[in-house]
Amino acid sequence: MRYIQARWEEGDGILEPTVFELGKRGDGGTPIVSIEEELMEEIGNLDEILPEKIVRRSIDLPGLSEPEVARHFSHLAQMNFGVDSGPYWLGSCTMKYTPKLAMRIASVSKIRRLHPYAPEEQVQGILKALYELKEMLSKITGLPYFSLQPAAGAQGELVGALMIRKKFMDLGEKRDEILIPESAHGSNFASAAMAGFKVIRIPPSDEGTVDLNALKAAINERTAGMMITNPNTLGIFESDVLEIADVLHSNGSYLYYDGANLNAIMGWILLSDMGVDIAHLNIHKTFSAPHGGGGPGAGAVGTTEEFRDFLPIPVISRRGDYYFLDYNVPKTIGKVRMFYGNIGVLIKAWVYLKLLGGEGVRSVSTVAVLNANYARKKLIEMGFEVLYGKDRPCKHEFVLSLSEVKKKYGIRALDFAKALIDRGFHPPTIYFPLIVPEAFMMEPTESDSLREIDGYVNAMKEILRRIEENPEEILQAPKNSAIGRIDDVFGNKKLWLTWKIYESEGR
Ligand SMILES: Cc1ncc(COP(=O)(O)O)c(C=O)c1O
Repeated sequence: MRYIQARWEEGDGILEPTVFELGKRGDGGTPIVSIEEELMEEIGNLDEILPEKIVRRSIDLPGLSEPEVARHFSHLAQMNFGVDSGPYWLGSCTMKYTPKLAMRIASVSKIRRLHPYAPEEQVQGILKALYELKEMLSKITGLPYFSLQPAAGAQGELVGALMIRKKFMDLGEKRDEILIPESAHGSNFASAAMAGFKVIRIPPSDEGTVDLNALKAAINERTAGMMITNPNTLGIFESDVLEIADVLHSNGSYLYYDGANLNAIMGWILLSDMGVDIAHLNIHKTFSAPHGGGGPGAGAVGTTEEFRDFLPIPVISRRGDYYFLDYNVPKTIGKVRMFYGNIGVLIKAWVYLKLLGGEGVRSVSTVAVLNANYARKKLIEMGFEVLYGKDRPCKHEFVLSLSEVKKKYGIRALDFAKALIDRGFHPPTIYFPLIVPEAFMMEPTESDSLREIDGYVNAMKEILRRIEENPEEILQAPKNSAIGRIDDVFGNKKLWLTWKIYESEGR
């Protein structure tokens, strides 16, 4: 039994047409309501008021009826694969299920249509919810101060790095180096560099964790800090974290925590107890509402007292029962995002946490870790290889290496991933972390049932068998999806992000 995506019948390359291809331009589908007469009387003749150069005589929309538009978007939704379609083990991206209640609350009109310039006293409800979210994040992390502004994990990293930079400017010290383990997410290197730091890479130990000797050799008077992810991107807990924090702090450097993997330890360990000075949390994955493949995110940044005054503005504060956007942050790095941050994502996280409560949060990480260990053990028994930390339990995710499969049959991690699509499973993250050849990074999260996990690992076993029998079939996968094998390199090099570029390329 397998889930098969909706698709156009005639085979590869037949896509849902764009609205511009479906309907002739200027044909006029649903008429655009003209300005009411009363309003016209009030404001006068727009043709006379508006300067000619800003008036658009035609907006060049395709002529489609409302049902045609509805069907077009339903087709696109059916041709897509989301967490609600099936298991989605996209390691590091934590594609967990979002409770429908959270979706409903985030889309009530009072929240969805909230005007960003509405006076504070009219939006006390939303400010209270955000304040409560901030308080819950503090309880989970042990970090007392939070900004909910950053729009993604990567922006949270940039904010953290800028705060560290400003802190040293404030101290009058010149420190321009940041240490980052080689297993880290690519955004860590980019964020540190964007904040003006030189990045020093720390190689892994044989166990896949931070090599303490390499860290001690690299640290010096110019080291501003280190970014670590714990558990790291191999799904291995950095047991030396306290020593790492000591080495940094005794050098006057800071520990930045990339919270993308908090899913594995929340409710069990406080970041403050690990010696963390600043952290971002990927609100959109740890607390549901994942944004893999695009979509809005939120990368809340938390700090200790030492960095409180550097947070981006505004933070959300309260005076008695009155909640307000607080711009009084004396050494702030400034503003990083318009208005309140990504409200929809933040509200979904608020509902998720309210639904779970303290014990629920703890059981989320317990189940996520249990699921990952169960799947990993089964896969190892089937002959799949784990290069790092094989003899110890993993946390919420694990990384297989398919390099033996590649050597023996010429099937790459990419081909294997495509074969999973044919069996109704979203592929894992591939080729990351870079230190694992032919990496297959798998994260079942707490969302999947035992039945679904068994289904996934059995599909992996079946693909392995098919590879032995008929590798050619796997090289041609996927066949059962809305879109067949795509040319990734071409797609990456030639980005057509708008209809206008697509059209100008003669399509
Ligand atoms: C370990 C890690 N750090 C940072 C990020 C960046 O987060 P975002 O995608 O929200 O920018 C990710 C994203 O997947 C990640 O896995």
